[in-house]
Amino acid sequence: MSKKTMKALGFHKPGDKTKPPKLEFIDVERPVPTERNLLVEVRAISVNPTDYKTRDAKNDYDDSLTIIGRDTAGVVVETGEGCTLFNIGDEVYYAGTSIAQGSHSEFHLVDERLVGKKPKSLNFAEAAALPLTSVTALEAYFDRLGVSDMPEENAGKSILIIGAAGGVGSVATQIAKQLGLTIIGTASRPETKEWAMQHGADYTINHREPFEPQLKELGLAGVHYIFCLTNVDDHMSGMAKVILPQGKICSILPAQKPLAIALFSKSVTFAYELMYTRSMFHTDDMIKQHHLLDKLADWVDDGKVKTTMSERMTPINSANLERAYEKLMSGKTIGKIVLEGPIEQ
Ligand SMILES: NC(=O)c1ccc[n+]([C@@H]2O[C@H](COP(=O)([O-])OP(=O)(O)OC[C@H]3O[C@@H](n4cnc5c(N)ncnc54)[C@H](OP(=O)(O)O)[C@@H]3O)[C@@H](O)[C@H]2O)c1
Repeated sequence: MSKKTMKALGFHKPGDKTKPPKLEFIDVERPVPTERNLLVEVRAISVNPTDYKTRDAKNDYDDSLTIIGRDTAGVVVETGEGCTLFNIGDEVYYAGTSIAQGSHSEFHLVDERLVGKKPKSLNFAEAAALPLTSVTALEAYFDRLGVSDMPEENAGKSILIIGAAGGVGSVATQIAKQLGLTIIGTASRPETKEWAMQHGADYTINHREPFEPQLKELGLAGVHYIFCLTNVDDHMSGMAKVILPQGKICSILPAQKPLAIALFSKSVTFAYELMYTRSMFHTDDMIKQHHLLDKLADWVDDGKVKTTMSERMTPINSANLERAYEKLMSGKTIGKIVLEGPIEQ
């Protein structure tokens, strides 16, 4: 029996350092779900810095096919024999895993434990903006920083979100609001300040200026939590000054330099969050990502969290993907850029 195929946008060879690799519009084998995998018909995707980082990390001597793409919204069309969470026809959203092919294809295979029900109140494009950044923020708050999920227990606690208007920041501020934290978001431009305030920040300060005097001006001696969404080395000494004794910091990028010594004298907890850890290592609690995405969908449908989509392009093709990566690489993106299907050349 001949195998079914599907269209995908992928590349074989890395770029030549001056130019990114050329995306090819190709026919590839359509995956068949087994065990706990779902086959999802892709309706919309959103782009993340990890997409162009994956593209740019490809080795010169590797000519295997790479299909990029993590954030996805679509419809379940087939289920593996071990699936218990979803049925054919269900509308879903997810960020998947970094150790399998991405979702810039007509259909995509994903473990159901990494998948949530799509918020009913959002269309596919609006939903595709959310999963990767939301799981990052939810894991950072609950698993790394130990923030309570009971807002009354967080009364009087404050968080500094560094990079509050970007992809992660736009949903991290909204979630922090739901958790009852006082939010100081950083933004360096009038439009990013306004966006951060619209998405739940109580105050904004500028990440291009020292944090301490700006917090003092707000009448704050320091913050209980810091969620750093950008190069952590750049902000290490600033964070060390404003974190309160016994406070907690979470970074989503690796530190290249030693941690500030002041963090030691303040008994600060310094944590890392990588939202792919659970799927990469197939941890026993991998299903937590399913629960987090369902929790977020409920918040969205209750009107407590809104989509972070700031720009929508259609179709999913190489020109739009390249345009979206270029915008992301500027470091000035506000919210999330989404591409909606169909998938084309
Ligand atoms: N570990 C994980 O699981 C994980 C998950 C998601 C993302 N990430 C990584 O986290 C980073 C952020 O992702 P993202 O999707 O939020 O990126 P993004 O949307 O591209 O972030 C853009 C925002 O970054 C802000 N920014 C630029 N320079 C800054 C600086 N020096 N200090 C503070 N903020 C600055 C900009 O604000 P202004 O315009 O106001 O300057 C802009 O709004 C990326 O490197 C990504 O790869 C890691």
